[in-house]
Amino acid sequence: MAFTLARSLATASLLLAGAQLAQAKCQKYVDAASVAAANLQSTYFANGGYINGQQPWIGAVDAYYLMQIDGLAGTNNYGGVINTVFNDWFGQLDNGQSYDDVQWVALAYLRAGQFDNAKKYYNFASVAVDASFCGGGLYWSGARNYKNAITNELYMALSGYMYDTLGDATYLSNLQSTWNWLKSTPMRGSNGLFNDGLNSACGNNGQTQWTYNQGVILVGLAYLYKHTGDETAVTSAFSIMDSVIASLTVNGGLREGCESTTQNLCNADQQTFKGILAYYMAWFLQITNRDNNSKYSNFLKAQGDKVLQNAVGPSGFYSNLWFDHNAGGAAWTASSQASALGALIAAGQQNC
Ligand SMILES: *[C@@H]1O[C@H](CO)[C@@H](O)[C@H](O)[C@H]1NC(C)=O
Repeated sequence: MAFTLARSLATASLLLAGAQLAQAKCQKYVDAASVAAANLQSTYFANGGYINGQQPWIGAVDAYYLMQIDGLAGTNNYGGVINTVFNDWFGQLDNGQSYDDVQWVALAYLRAGQFDNAKKYYNFASVAVDASFCGGGLYWSGARNYKNAITNELYMALSGYMYDTLGDATYLSNLQSTWNWLKSTPMRGSNGLFNDGLNSACGNNGQTQWTYNQGVILVGLAYLYKHTGDETAVTSAFSIMDSVIASLTVNGGLREGCESTTQNLCNADQQTFKGILAYYMAWFLQITNRDNNSKYSNFLKAQGDKVLQNAVGPSGFYSNLWFDHNAGGAAWTASSQASALGALIAAGQQNC
């Protein structure tokens, strides 16, 4: 009896902690995110796709953000987005050539509760799993000649989210085997950040350490920790986030390698990476409830502040330049708008 009571009290306080976690929000960022989301849709979205050359994978990221801001702000504006966002793109998505793109799409369908579509695109990605080149992991594309960080990190995050939602043990096993392979490769550089991928000799190819490649993996690690209790998953995530703070910021604000205050060298994809890093960091914190004295939560609020100080333009439109004031190098596009939205949602999910 006492045991049962203790257990139900423990369960109740766990549920309470979960509820508080879900409700944690910092309203000023949520308000800014709501306006940014409305502007993203009214200005950059038309007839089943985003303008400015934005690829469907970013549309999938956008759809995810929009569903999330509805939940956070208590609105119901974007429930239908998932049914229109890919309309122009099914030819490209279903040709089986882009093993990273289909995973962003699966994540968005999973978030929307469209499980059959999530499984369909998950299964497209699973075709990329291969042991013959560098001993494991997934190929990036149908050319089957390149293994990179993003495709494998996505497979970790998506497999974890699939397992968390649908409970099929295959997904957890896929998460574990992908992580075991990824950490056995030299894809992570000596500064603790993931480079783009592997060269033909299975060495680190030394290509750019994009911000989002330090973010997506955190959600895979979070689900690994949640479902196996593996403490090293948290240690690894902390170490990656510490490397981000040490090496990918200027004056405390995230800076993509292609960014400067005076010249824009980032394409549409690259303009949206920082928001993904922020968003996935917040997702890690939400799943694990593990921080280091609010270090990472504070970092996310600092990114929200940078966006509101440096990237903001008139009426809630945002450039891609967070770390400093624009001196001609800022881009104002669907991708930069979505990136700011990701950061504002991430900050909005923290306690003020
Ligand atoms: C927490 O952060 C402090 C300060 O950066 C660091 O010294 C410490 O090692 C961190 N703890 C963990 C568990 O990462």
